Amino acid sequence: MKITKICCIGAGYVGGPTMAVIAQKCPQIQVTVVDLNEERIAAWNDENLDNIPIYEPGLDKIVGEARGRNLFFSTHVEKAIDEAQIIFISVNTPTKTYGKGKGMAADLKYIELCARQIAKIAKDNKIVVEKSTLPVRTAEAIKSILDNTGNGVQFQILSNPEFLAEGTAVQDLLNPDRILIGGDTTEDGQKAIQALVAVYANWVAADKILTTNLWSSELSKLTANAFLAQRISSINAMSELCEKTGADVNEVAKAIGMDSRIGSKFLKASVGFGGSCFQKDILNLVYIAKSYGLSEVADYWEQVIIMNDHQKRRFSNTIVQTLYNTVSDKKICFLGWAFKKDTNDTRESAAIYVADDLINENAKIAVYDPKVSRKKILADLDYLETRTAEKNANSILSFEDPYETCEGAHAIAVLTEWDEFVQYDWQRIYDSMQKPAFVFDGRNILNGSALKEIGFVYQGIGS
Ligand code: NAD
Ligand code: UDX
Repeated sequence: MKITKICCIGAGYVGGPTMAVIAQKCPQIQVTVVDLNEERIAAWNDENLDNIPIYEPGLDKIVGEARGRNLFFSTHVEKAIDEAQIIFISVNTPTKTYGKGKGMAADLKYIELCARQIAKIAKDNKIVVEKSTLPVRTAEAIKSILDNTGNGVQFQILSNPEFLAEGTAVQDLLNPDRILIGGDTTEDGQKAIQALVAVYANWVAADKILTTNLWSSELSKLTANAFLAQRISSINAMSELCEKTGADVNEVAKAIGMDSRIGSKFLKASVGFGGSCFQKDILNLVYIAKSYGLSEVADYWEQVIIMNDHQKRRFSNTIVQTLYNTVSDKKICFLGWAFKKDTNDTRESAAIYVADDLINENAKIAVYDPKVSRKKILADLDYLETRTAEKNANSILSFEDPYETCEGAHAIAVLTEWDEFVQYDWQRIYDSMQKPAFVFDGRNILNGSALKEIGFVYQGIGS
């Protein structure tokens, strides 16, 4: 089948960048990204490319090139479904906040809504692609909805999980380590797989496009995220031991990372991992294992989350203890709020939980993040429902300028590894702070010895 029209349901962190790159690389294919969120679609269509809703280095340029040519953002979901030969489902799959599996299982209500809408609209055969991260065997449920329309339309379901990381989304999409496509082992299933392979083959080498059965593909995504997060919790566990023994976690990470069997990536000790994926996907994995009665498997992976929660709490405890066991009415400056650098995404950011702990101790938190607004910071804290919105608003001080943010502070905590933090005039910052001036570097990005020379009391993670 020659593909000329693609539609993607969900214009979020995955749908937006992924479809922009497909459109850029496949000018012969019309790509329409649809969403129910009118504000988000309006932002994607904003003439000023600085206003597109997702900040990713290089994304504005790609959207600028393809938008209006063969890339369209729209709220007309039904029309886009009707016209497309391939429909990607890239909607959110958050952790359930109600009912059975609350706090663990993935909430599939948005996925099911998409499947029902496709079933209602489609008049000719379609390939439906799971782009969202889903529990293994979700394709079965989607298929059951699509196969019961009674209108004779044939659907093929593929699983094509996305491995991009935020902050490097464009690079990851342009040069993926691999593209994974899972589908039915039937002849029609294989044809559908080949149709999607042909789309990616416009820019991805054939040996990087891996095809599998549906269940392997669905489960590989959860497995990849679990393994990645597990490395961070492993090194963070070691960071605590380093602090007790005089070892330095950066040196330990370097030493073990040079073993080619271990590898050097994803061994950076930190205040704890954040982001919308790791915690949600591991909780989902734990839930799935439990639902099959595999309690040892479930307990094994749950430990990754337990360690991460411990690491975040340990960081806030260290701040309180070091500041003479009280932070009440003290100004603590947060450099960074996003869950990692080069993104405006704050979902599950460690900063939220550390701030929550410190506000419980009556601290005043002054936040500076180059890409995150005060509105977003307050929304993140209000979402936890720990206290009233008014109390949160009174506890968070926001500044446009990092030097002003640090002025008069008792301590600085680095929560995000933005490059610009390293370049600051740290002498100027020191001069404007309360003494002793403390720095808690939750990302190990600052030059600790240079800071100590200025006069700071510097504490990194794991040394
Ligand atoms: P997101 O919340 O940024 O975007 C999802 C979008 O889907 C929202 O704009 C929402 O309005 C829209 N939507 C929901 N239901 C809809 C419906 N019925 N019709 C039309 N639009 C609808 O989420 P995201 O970060 O892009 O993640 C999407 C999926 O991709 C999740 O399953 C996630 O686990 C997975 N994923 C995310 C990342 C990442 O880095 N964020 C990476 C890989 C995979
Ligand atoms: C992750 C996966 O990397 C990606 O493949 C998947 O598609 C989505 O989930 P993302 O969450 O966007 O991507 O960013 P990632 O770079 O994985 O970082 C996640 C968190 O771990 C961040 O808070 C980051 O700061 C932290 N991290 C990462 C560490 O603390 N140490 C590390 O060594 C690496």
